[in-house]
Amino acid sequence: MRNYDVLIVGTGVAGLFAALNLSIDKKILIVTKGTLEENDSFLAQGGICVQRDESDFEPFFEDTLRAGHYENNEAAVSAMIRSSGEIIGDLIDLGVAFDKKGDGFSYTKEGAHSRARILHCKDMTGKEINSKLIARIKEQKNVSILENSTLVDLLVADGRCHGVVLRDQSGKLSNIYAENTLLATGGIGGLFSKSTNFAHLTGDAIAVALKHSVRVKDMDYVQIHPTSLYTGRSGRAFLMSESLRGEGAILVGKDGQRFADELLPRDLLTKAIYTQMEKDRLPYVRMFLKDHVEGSISERFPGIHAHCLQEGYDLAEDYIPVVPAQHYFMGGIEVNLQSKTSLANLYAAGETSCNGVHGKNRLASNSLLESLVFSKRAAQTINAESQRKTLCPFPEPDARSIEAGLKEANRKLLEEIGIEEEAHAK
Ligand code: SIN
Repeated sequence: MRNYDVLIVGTGVAGLFAALNLSIDKKILIVTKGTLEENDSFLAQGGICVQRDESDFEPFFEDTLRAGHYENNEAAVSAMIRSSGEIIGDLIDLGVAFDKKGDGFSYTKEGAHSRARILHCKDMTGKEINSKLIARIKEQKNVSILENSTLVDLLVADGRCHGVVLRDQSGKLSNIYAENTLLATGGIGGLFSKSTNFAHLTGDAIAVALKHSVRVKDMDYVQIHPTSLYTGRSGRAFLMSESLRGEGAILVGKDGQRFADELLPRDLLTKAIYTQMEKDRLPYVRMFLKDHVEGSISERFPGIHAHCLQEGYDLAEDYIPVVPAQHYFMGGIEVNLQSKTSLANLYAAGETSCNGVHGKNRLASNSLLESLVFSKRAAQTINAESQRKTLCPFPEPDARSIEAGLKEANRKLLEEIGIEEEAHAK
């Protein structure tokens, strides 16, 4: 019987940060469907929000609520904002190098923010944070890592979670037992034909949660990012970060004229872009930076600059075709402010979970922050509460019934989100 104190599914910032905040006497297994770095946190470009000073609490709170159409859980929003300074301190202690300006930090702005409060590491903030967390995790002797393993079921008995069933690359199924399990498998972008997410992120944890009647919330709240690079090809959409617009980039239609405030909340700007595309009878609008963004574009946005060059565009000179794409899921497995689900000994954090912090539409650069704040809370709760419990043995998983269960769970997942088998972002 493979037995752990804590089993974490997912290696985005939520999963890794939880592991680092669990006490070191816990035996931990972290599992991921791809490789350690194939997660959406790694792709995050824009940055991470922080409450800049006491006077910023109210505006940050109001910006988050206004973007979320006032459907947010206000207690969650307050907890997230109040913890932001502490989380940034933790990241700096882990070696995360946020960009500086003069003696202080460089803060950028994105859509629907009333002031610049986003810390960033050029245009690769997620990569910088994720890499530093991975480096520290690899030093932890109490943590084992299992890559290329897919979550296919939960082990549930006596009203509590006893672990999970995993499928490895060869198709072999195994039961993994744990006193506490944390689901942090990221979003649902893989269910859409056009998404900025990795294609293997298909809401697996949410599907198996549905199978066991674990409560879910806001399942039709899917966020479309206004600007991904238009290529006309299929496959993952490359994000054209909102921080480009935060730093001044404009959007124009076929006539070369601006048609909207580029810093509208994401859902509203997406609508304006679709309207313009229809008017122009084109599958994109165009983004333009030259003379609108100060400083060296290739130094501030090296990742996006390099990617655009590969596609034949110079970000500093050219009009770049952009189109909306699925980006984020505000719904998910319902959790409380300690990241506990409705099933005992089962936690969820990050995009997989829903504590209502984002309401109907997430404010830009609140996702890394939310993941870090609430995964730390999950770890602290596990540290405080866990006591040895008897784990009951389950029969060896049977491939046929696991596959049948998964099929039904995935059908339910699509139905709850409200998409057809082959979904489209629009
Ligand atoms: C972006 O850089 O536009 C994405 C940041 C986010 O999703 O908050």
